[in-house]
Amino acid sequence: MTADLHALTEALKAAWRRSDQLFTLLPQAALHERPIGQRHPFLFYLGHLPAFAWNQLGRGVLGRPPLDPRLDRLFERGIDPPDPCAAPALTAWPSLTAVLDYRDAARAAVQGQLPELLRALHDRPDDPLIQRARVLHLVLEHELMHHETLLYMFAQREGEPLARPPEIPAPEGGDGRRAEVHEIPAGPIYLGAEWHETEFGWDNEFSRHRVDLPAFRLDTLPVRNRDWLDFYRRRSAPPQLFPRSWSRAPAGLHVRTVFGLHPFELAAGWPVQVSGAQARIYAEAHGARLPTEAELHRAALTAPDQRSRPAEPPRSSACDLRRFFPAPVGHDPASASAWGAEELLGNGWEWTSTLFAPYPGFTPWARTYPGYSADFYDGDHDVVVGASWATDIRLLRPSFRNWYRRDYPYPFTSFRLVHSTS
Ligand SMILES: [Fe+2]
Repeated sequence: MTADLHALTEALKAAWRRSDQLFTLLPQAALHERPIGQRHPFLFYLGHLPAFAWNQLGRGVLGRPPLDPRLDRLFERGIDPPDPCAAPALTAWPSLTAVLDYRDAARAAVQGQLPELLRALHDRPDDPLIQRARVLHLVLEHELMHHETLLYMFAQREGEPLARPPEIPAPEGGDGRRAEVHEIPAGPIYLGAEWHETEFGWDNEFSRHRVDLPAFRLDTLPVRNRDWLDFYRRRSAPPQLFPRSWSRAPAGLHVRTVFGLHPFELAAGWPVQVSGAQARIYAEAHGARLPTEAELHRAALTAPDQRSRPAEPPRSSACDLRRFFPAPVGHDPASASAWGAEELLGNGWEWTSTLFAPYPGFTPWARTYPGYSADFYDGDHDVVVGASWATDIRLLRPSFRNWYRRDYPYPFTSFRLVHSTS
């Protein structure tokens, strides 16, 4: 366990370095920008990540006193479900220096508590947050998930674009490939994880259960920007179908990226980034529907000659911030699953028709974060499956679940269609 703790600590430090690199992309003057109304300004997240780490490990699990009572509380939690009234006025935020000092103090305090966590592993072995150092996993994965959140917030900025550092490759353009339809026969898929077999899982990942699916016909690839543009024009360009990932400014149609607007022609072959509600309209208009969570997992993780069983996490070189843009659909035929479904990881999360709801046996096991999932079992959130280029590889285990509000258009989310079998 000492070795595991060491590896986890190193992974956490690497995540902190990446947090710092991402914030460095942002000019200081932009820290008070709030490009998504339902979320706080960027400055909040600079304080939120260390506050969360300290509040979970130091205060929540090890019972330490507050580091800074005001800042521990101010930076405790982001906003979703939306509550714009909860955001302090711009003048109420601490100075950048104060936030950076707090960040450094919190990180140092977290590291300073690791010997205590090691002792607790022996003294409190029945505490699920201490067993397997789960609290450290929780803090680490929270930080990694916020990297993706920050990046999709960057993409929604207006005004002066962020400069792309030379080490980040330029985007790949192209028309992409059109999807084919492949039939996946009736069969089972196991969703979720078993508590004792898993090093770490969020509360929503438990427990493992079998779902028997009828046959379904799935597109091999997601819908592209150019496909959406055809659809949008055929429907006479209604405002509700204009993706939030597009922009009409300054001259003609553009697509938003972390590093500013790019001409539509460059991004025509990328998966279209839309909300779940928009994706449903597109599917219905094509006589199709969105896949379920179980169907996408069956497409990704089973094979014609295998019994369905939880598989090793599929790996994708497309994830993990190795690039900062989507790629043209069909760019990676080697990513095809045994059923021929390509790019199930790395070119965008994919909307499903599955309401985010607890698996059988759900328990909010993390007493320091009981609302992680339960706050979102509200009928407004749908499961998304897969990963985007901004998703850390650590989150690619098959049981990991992600979800967004159905009408939330900002994250790196696309979709593919399921067609009628009749
Ligand atoms: Fe958070």
